[in-house]
Amino acid sequence: MDTVTPPESGGHTINWDDLVALPPYSSSRSAPIVGALDRAIAEIDAAVGRNGDTARRFVPSAGALYPYDVVITDPEFCSAAVLDPVTRKLRVPENTPLPTDVDHYGWMVIGRPWLSMRKYGRRGYLYHLLDIGHALVNLGMRSGRDPLSARLRERSVGLSEQLGGVPRAIGVIAPSASGAASGWVLDIADPAAPRTRNEFEQTAVAIAPDQSPEPLDLAGMRFDDTWPAVSPRRKSAPRFGAPGSVAEAEGCLDAAIASGRENLMRLNIAAPHLTMVGRAELDRYLPQDELSVALAGQRHLCGPDAVVVMSAEQPHQNCVDPDRQRMLLAAGVIGQSIYLEATARRLGVTGIGGIDPRAWRPLLPPGHVAFYVVAVGADIAAATEAKLDALTAEGHLRNRELTGSGVRR
Ligand SMILES: Cc1cc2nc3c(=O)[nH]c(=O)nc-3n(C[C@H](O)[C@H](O)[C@H](O)COP(=O)(O)O)c2cc1C
Repeated sequence: MDTVTPPESGGHTINWDDLVALPPYSSSRSAPIVGALDRAIAEIDAAVGRNGDTARRFVPSAGALYPYDVVITDPEFCSAAVLDPVTRKLRVPENTPLPTDVDHYGWMVIGRPWLSMRKYGRRGYLYHLLDIGHALVNLGMRSGRDPLSARLRERSVGLSEQLGGVPRAIGVIAPSASGAASGWVLDIADPAAPRTRNEFEQTAVAIAPDQSPEPLDLAGMRFDDTWPAVSPRRKSAPRFGAPGSVAEAEGCLDAAIASGRENLMRLNIAAPHLTMVGRAELDRYLPQDELSVALAGQRHLCGPDAVVVMSAEQPHQNCVDPDRQRMLLAAGVIGQSIYLEATARRLGVTGIGGIDPRAWRPLLPPGHVAFYVVAVGADIAAATEAKLDALTAEGHLRNRELTGSGVRR
């Protein structure tokens, strides 16, 4: 087992200094964002940002943690700024301003696995890749084919060191002259301000796989025409209602999976193994309380009309090599395709990372381990109802207490 090296305070206990010593605050100033840069940010905001004035974002995320940053760069890749959808600020260093009126801007998604790992431990590394995969569909819908992306790809590795994380995907946005205004502001930071990670974040980085794949270039992706318009309605069902039509749910999964697979072929990455299970089969293999066990006690998510179980064989060396990482991004791409298709068909949908893989085994090919389930059914919750897994520090364990479901061990 890895051990966490205690900080220099000497010893395992928390000292007073740990509570009161902070890096000096370095002030930043704000400025309006204008021109094409503002419209490019509006495009990215509409893909992965906040939905109006709510806390809800256009993409789902396990525990609502959003463990990645989106970075925007100029065509010459001289400057890079981090978008912060929560405060709607574009953090840009004082000495390298982004040009405000160019035809194209590049973007990159940089993984921040520790944001998930500090809640979910090592399993959080999985969630950060699934979450990024979900975001890639929305970003792909707004990114065009562009010769600039080849240059951005070349540059992205060098920039990753500068930006403190692995770039998982790149794309190019051509803001249209009539595009919406973003309503964001520039947050101009002092370049000398230190960027610090606490010791838990450093541990997360230290135990992450040391090799990562080249970033995906989303230029070639294609999407159903209805998806951009329905994406603002997307949400995760907090619970499922009375049984609906299994044929509708399975039709939705079929269409979404076909679209997802096509895009994965264009990206040249392998999909995970997908097993579609309708309600009758769920009742047969996981009767009564066993579905709630399979969903790690999330009884409120029982009652979907159909689910897709994503699984993979145990790798020989038990490692998360670059191909596995790509396959997990691919799983997120399939997941988001299901979210958008279900939203278009007015079905409830939710990703479910809190599962008990042992319970799903009888439904899978021999040797396969389930790692992610996406469920479709009738959503009875109001749009404002909160997701339990996003509310609590203990995530799925706390769900068991809240819903009182039994867990077989
Ligand atoms: C990879 C992944 C795993 C998730 N796992 C669960 C889960 O186990 N239980 C659950 O209720 N919701 C789960 N969700 C849904 C999130 O809770 C939801 O996206 C988040 O709370 C934000 O809510 P919204 O999607 O409605 O905007 C998951 C979402 C993703 C992308």
